[in-house]
Amino acid sequence: MKDKPKTSRFAVSINTDLLNEFNDLLKEKNYPNRSQAVQDIIRNYIIEEKWDEAENTMGTITMVFNHHKRNLTETLTKIQHDYNDEIISNTHVHLTHENCLEVIIVKGKGSKIRALANQLIQTKGVLHGKLTLTTAGE
Ligand code: NI
Repeated sequence: MKDKPKTSRFAVSINTDLLNEFNDLLKEKNYPNRSQAVQDIIRNYIIEEKWDEAENTMGTITMVFNHHKRNLTETLTKIQHDYNDEIISNTHVHLTHENCLEVIIVKGKGSKIRALANQLIQTKGVLHGKLTLTTAGE
């Protein structure tokens, strides 16, 4: 039988407005309890920090943009060419008359992949963007 993991209690001082906002959000999301929520947030934070340090990560960058916007397609292509070692493949879907969806499969150092994703997503005219990182199992 697997042992139940040990738990610890700790006290935290936090801005009251911030805590109220957090409590409201948990209620909205039907979180079973605050301990569970804080635990999930800490776990995600640790995973994300480790991704940045990792030498060998894999993931996808998804973005939606309007290809009619002046120079946008060229800018996004130029950024991707700066990271040709990290980009494995790229799929472009013509979503609507003006909007395109692009999914880029990436592999490499976590911090470098995040830098690429940030550059693409922060480019003016990109309507939505998201980086999803996973591990190569090591
Ligand atoms: Ni397109």
